[in-house]
Amino acid sequence: MSQIGNSSSEPYVVVHNILLAHASAARLYKRTSQEKQKGLIGISIFAFGVVPNTSSTEDAMATKRLNDFTIGWIANPLVFGDYPNAMKKLVGSRLPTFTNHESELVKGSFDFFGVIHYTTLYVRDDPDSLLQKQRDYYTDIAANITNFEEIFATNEYPILPWALQGVLEHIKQTYGNPPVYVVENGQRTKRNSTLADTSRAEYLQAYIGSTLDAIRNGSDTRGYFAWSFLDVLELLDGYGSSFGLYYLDLDDPDLRRQPKFSSYWYSHFLKGGSVSPNMLIQLNTNFSASRGHFF
Ligand SMILES: *[C@@H]1O[C@H](CO)[C@@H](O)[C@H](O)[C@H]1NC(C)=O
Ligand SMILES: *[C@@H]1O[C@H](CO)[C@@H](O)[C@H](O)[C@H]1NC(C)=O
Ligand SMILES: *[C@@H]1O[C@H](CO)[C@@H](O)[C@H](O)[C@H]1NC(C)=O
Ligand SMILES: *[C@@H]1O[C@H](CO)[C@@H](O)[C@H](O)[C@H]1NC(C)=O
Ligand SMILES: *[C@@H]1O[C@H](CO)[C@@H](O)[C@H](O)[C@H]1NC(C)=O
Ligand SMILES: *[C@@H]1O[C@H](CO)[C@@H](O)[C@H](O)[C@H]1NC(C)=O
Repeated sequence: MSQIGNSSSEPYVVVHNILLAHASAARLYKRTSQEKQKGLIGISIFAFGVVPNTSSTEDAMATKRLNDFTIGWIANPLVFGDYPNAMKKLVGSRLPTFTNHESELVKGSFDFFGVIHYTTLYVRDDPDSLLQKQRDYYTDIAANITNFEEIFATNEYPILPWALQGVLEHIKQTYGNPPVYVVENGQRTKRNSTLADTSRAEYLQAYIGSTLDAIRNGSDTRGYFAWSFLDVLELLDGYGSSFGLYYLDLDDPDLRRQPKFSSYWYSHFLKGGSVSPNMLIQLNTNFSASRGHFF
């Protein structure tokens, strides 16, 4: 048993310990170094966009539950000092509890939230999963992700920028508008497919635009980081996919780097260039003319 673990209880124990460890480190930093260094301390949250599969109340509840089990799992303890009620009810005694002291330690132990956002889940109520004897994180949520296969294949992500705005709105409205940095956001392509990664430039343009829309509607979002500067070993896909604005040739002993079209677009954007759709086409034409190598 100790070798294969226990999925009924251990995910909850792990996150509980992460939260306590985070809170201790944050308190130590605030006490000993923050004044001197003027640093900020935060925690990153993996936040999916969420859309109910139908307009039924059940699917709306399932969508809210999914948010509770992802964003709320981390954000509720940090803002309110405890797990969301839906989690306490569904996970029961397998969910660790905070003592009053721990709750006070965890509550408020952040200067900002980091938001990791890539893609959007379509959510359907799945009451049958509550009947399964073998409990785990997924059966506890009691929701079926209808586009699950699509998300976990190594395909490009559909471009749904309003979903990031939705996440930033959700954080603003649910947690009292804390400062937010979008710490990861970007497009997946099959590794080695092409240097002319137009869909990555389109994705970045759309999602940065969506971040701006959220800011204009009052979200205290203060920064944005594209994932990723370079093709790297990906958490979920290994070397099967890439997110880099630069291609890294793994077969080259010198690991040569080549700029993709997205790096060309991003640099143009950062220098204050126009982001009209027409400009994207123009940049693309120039990029292909200058260095459009296709694999
Ligand atoms: C896993 O943990 C739960 C909750 O602590 C416990 O009830 C269950 O017996 C454990 N399962 C195994 C196979 O050890
Ligand atoms: C809704 O769920 C059904 C059944 O799982 C699925 O066939 C359909 O594609 C889903 N619709 C959306 C928009 O995800
Ligand atoms: C969602 O429902 C489909 C069809 O009922 C099933 O095959 C799939 O395993 C379910 N996925 C999850 C993540 O529960
Ligand atoms: C990537 O493309 C290069 C150049 O065509 C090729 O030599 C290499 O085998 C490819 N690597 C992978 C992992 O597909
Ligand atoms: C803008 O913010 C207001 C106030 O929080 C909210 O009611 C509204 O839904 C937001 N608009 C959008 C498009 O998210
Ligand atoms: C594309 O190249 C043409 C010809 O060199 C140049 O005039 C134009 O400014 C370039 N456009 C962009 C967006 O860089």
